[in-house]
Amino acid sequence: MTLLRLSGLAAGYGAKTVIADVSFGLEPGQILAFLGHNGAGKTTTLKTVMGLLPPRAGELVFDGQRIERLDVSRRVAMGLRLLPEGRGIFPDLSVAENIDVVAARNVGGAAMFGIADVYRLFPILEERRPTRAGSLSGGQQQMLALALAILGSPRCLLLDEPSIGLAPNLVERLFQQVRDLCRSHAMTAILVEQNVAAAMQIADRVIIMNNGRIVFDGLPHEARESNFWNYF
Ligand SMILES: Nc1ncnc2c1ncn2[C@@H]1O[C@H](COP(=O)(O)OP(=O)(O)O)[C@@H](O)[C@H]1O
Ligand SMILES: [Mg+2]
Repeated sequence: MTLLRLSGLAAGYGAKTVIADVSFGLEPGQILAFLGHNGAGKTTTLKTVMGLLPPRAGELVFDGQRIERLDVSRRVAMGLRLLPEGRGIFPDLSVAENIDVVAARNVGGAAMFGIADVYRLFPILEERRPTRAGSLSGGQQQMLALALAILGSPRCLLLDEPSIGLAPNLVERLFQQVRDLCRSHAMTAILVEQNVAAAMQIADRVIIMNNGRIVFDGLPHEARESNFWNYF
């Protein structure tokens, strides 16, 4: 069963079409390393999947439903979650307020991850409950961003460069957490990363984008053996 499928997706800004003919499908539980140079179109692809940017062509199917005309909140309710480039936390609210505000949006139905669940998964956040989110260390802010992304019942995480600014041991811890979540809850993740080595440790599939188009799609070992690997 395919959870998310992009078919012939195109999107852009103003007169400029930035991504074209982007097609791939992901199974539940799969972790995709979505790689490419700066400006390749990775963020544009994630924004289009999330509904922040309208597609200019192509189809998006999530859980068997066409979603390209649904607004962001409908896509969130279906289980799509974006951890945006540059975090996506409320820096002036406390850790507890961040979690409460986002949890309050996810009303109705039994949540896979409620407030108590995210504190259990990220004990550091429990310790830092009263702390202003903007005063947390980079690693703790990123843990909070991931906690906010999984509140409710996520099924597909779109993670846009989550390791930026983190020390290597924190990157490893964050990525292990992503992998554990995907394995234990059949959650799918698209991981956009400049830290290719770290991404490759948890990926079970690799797509490389160049100039708005997919130039490689395959298994991690195939990616390492491909011509496009020199590229990094
Ligand atoms: N809001 C925007 N308005 C106009 N052009 C943009 C905007 N965001 C990105 N672009 C352009 O789209 C291209 C792809 O950008 P992006 O998707 O952010 O790439 P990546 O995430 O792979 O670095 C770049 O040429 C970038 O300059
Ligand atoms: Mg980007």
